[in-house]
Amino acid sequence: KETIFSGIQPSGIPTIGNYIGAMKQFVDLQKEYQCYFCIVDQHAITVPQDRLKLREQILQLAALYLAVGIDPEQAAIFIQSEVPAHSEAAWIVQCNTPLGELERMTQFKDKSQKQESVAAGLLTYPPLMVADIILYNTNLVPVGEDQKQHLELTRDFVARFNSRYAGKNQEILATPEVKIPEKNSGGRIMSLQEPTKKMSKSDSNAKGFISMLDEPKVITKKIRSAVTDSSGIIEYDPEEKPGISNLLVIYSAVTDYTIEELADKYKDSGYAEFKTDLAEAVVTWIEPIHERYHAILNSEELHTILDEGALSAQKVANKTLQKMKNAVGLGRKP
Ligand code: AQP
Repeated sequence: KETIFSGIQPSGIPTIGNYIGAMKQFVDLQKEYQCYFCIVDQHAITVPQDRLKLREQILQLAALYLAVGIDPEQAAIFIQSEVPAHSEAAWIVQCNTPLGELERMTQFKDKSQKQESVAAGLLTYPPLMVADIILYNTNLVPVGEDQKQHLELTRDFVARFNSRYAGKNQEILATPEVKIPEKNSGGRIMSLQEPTKKMSKSDSNAKGFISMLDEPKVITKKIRSAVTDSSGIIEYDPEEKPGISNLLVIYSAVTDYTIEELADKYKDSGYAEFKTDLAEAVVTWIEPIHERYHAILNSEELHTILDEGALSAQKVANKTLQKMKNAVGLGRKP
């Protein structure tokens, strides 16, 4: 089987955007691949976090992974900081990555602008992500569109590392492919309040996102107040009608309808009716997820799954880390 690695930051409660862009793919792909799904808590501390909240969000994310349908029999679910190879490998990656490449990353530019004081870790976030991926000999990384540039950096790093340290026609690290949903199937879900901006779990305006743990009433309210336009026509046109197009993508992702079917179904309807039906569809889809989430959150089982996940991740990660250390000449000959 080929290998998948992907992760989500416990920097808030995952949004429906994180679900549609990432988690949904995890569930769909888990049978065909050897999967490693990580809770990337070390990435989360690249911006300030409240320590108690962070701890809580780590377990919430783990419970959500399970609640949306990730099967711990098929996939290792683990916490990044519990597999020390990630930060060790990240150092080697940093030492083999030109500074200019990191300064060019758009996520760094966006996120550093929002901070009063920018931590060095925000700049070296991508090398940690490279380490996350390469440690598992990953073939495929399912992510949302915002991570595309980081994946390109990962592929460039692998090429550079292999050519610098491996013998001719040999490779130490595997080259990963990226898998991003098409734009109209949720590669980039937009904010409900500013539909030209990405939906983000750390948005200071909670009306902009639907959290995976929002109560049905809250979801309905947020959808009702989602920003649209004044044309009154329901059609998919992300350039001219970003708000309605985004709602169509969300509607399609949580039901069996395609966007075309939805546009046809609502061609004679007003926005109010469309939003009411969409809210109902989201609530119907999310209620069983909430039930499973609450059943697992405070269970012993959750801890067992995370313990076992960390162990199975460590086994593979430590081997790759040793290969990297050997390649660059760290420590003594094993
Ligand atoms: N709006 C989105 N639409 C589709 N996919 C998305 N992803 C994030 N936002 C959207 C995908 O979700 C996965 C996990 O993301 P992350 O937690 O690693 O960080 P992020 O990309 O920075 O996501 P957020 O929600 O915007 O978090 P904060 O606010 O903490 O920065 C990734 O695969 C991502 O592409």
